[in-house]
Amino acid sequence: MSEVQSYMDFVLPLVLESGKELLTVKNIISEAKNGNDWDVVTIYDRKIENLLIDKIKMKYKDHKFIGEEESAAKNTISTLTDSPTWIIDPIDGTANFVKQMPITCISIGLTINREQVLGLIYNPYMDELFTALRGQGAYLNGNRITTSGETKINKCIFNYELSLAAHDGRLRELYMSRLTALIDVVSGIRSYGSAALGLCYVACGRIDAYQCDGLYPWDAAAGTLIVREAGGYVIDSSGKPFDLMNPNFLATSTETLSQQFMSIERSVDVSRLNINEKTV
Ligand code: IPD
Ligand code: CA
Ligand code: CA
Ligand code: CA
Repeated sequence: MSEVQSYMDFVLPLVLESGKELLTVKNIISEAKNGNDWDVVTIYDRKIENLLIDKIKMKYKDHKFIGEEESAAKNTISTLTDSPTWIIDPIDGTANFVKQMPITCISIGLTINREQVLGLIYNPYMDELFTALRGQGAYLNGNRITTSGETKINKCIFNYELSLAAHDGRLRELYMSRLTALIDVVSGIRSYGSAALGLCYVACGRIDAYQCDGLYPWDAAAGTLIVREAGGYVIDSSGKPFDLMNPNFLATSTETLSQQFMSIERSVDVSRLNINEKTV
């Protein structure tokens, strides 16, 4: 058994157990993060992240962690190193979770030598487990998945994530300009409120493209690997090389579709916007 497979075997039951616990939760109380009413956190976000970090740390003493809530507590995101690093989003789609909308998941990625090698995303409400190991394909509940293979933008169902980040004004202009340019071209637009599941839905062909800017490593670490392992294509929509630590991503079923999106988006002039300036 490969080393990475053994990591997957260790972490999987922890994630399934944490996910099942979420199903029993009633009357969820949320609090505003950094005083922003649109960015919420619950005790469950912290509880799941702490549990995962504690259990993994106990077993693999030299492993490192980049978690959404520990980063918020430290007010900084640790630098990615060559050490095995677990990148954890304990609840992706917290706003959905608070409303009990079943588009909520736990997302965990692992990097080794700064390469994404493992991705695991579990939506307990649908009992859907998306997994990928680098070079070994992507799976939904153990069955191999592939993207839709769609190559035509006019046939494309596009999840344009109207990200929380757009609330701070920094990204709003970019979002609105792109939306105006794309709305008449694609076949349909969705916005599910979970970056990790949006990526999984591209991977399994439920949608053809997913885009979001100004996100964080924990939003992207598992899902972008799952898309690539499902035969999909992921780029940084700003034109720079994809950077897991500063992810702006366009994930598509095919490279051809990606090129069609980019030729439209390049016509939207956003060069003056600094979309990588962020707070944790
Ligand atoms: C959020 C979700 C959402 C995206 C936000 C993210 P969180 O993550 O992925 O889809 O629009 O920008 O912050 O806070 O629910 O883990
Ligand atoms: Ca959050
Ligand atoms: Ca997230
Ligand atoms: Ca989260």
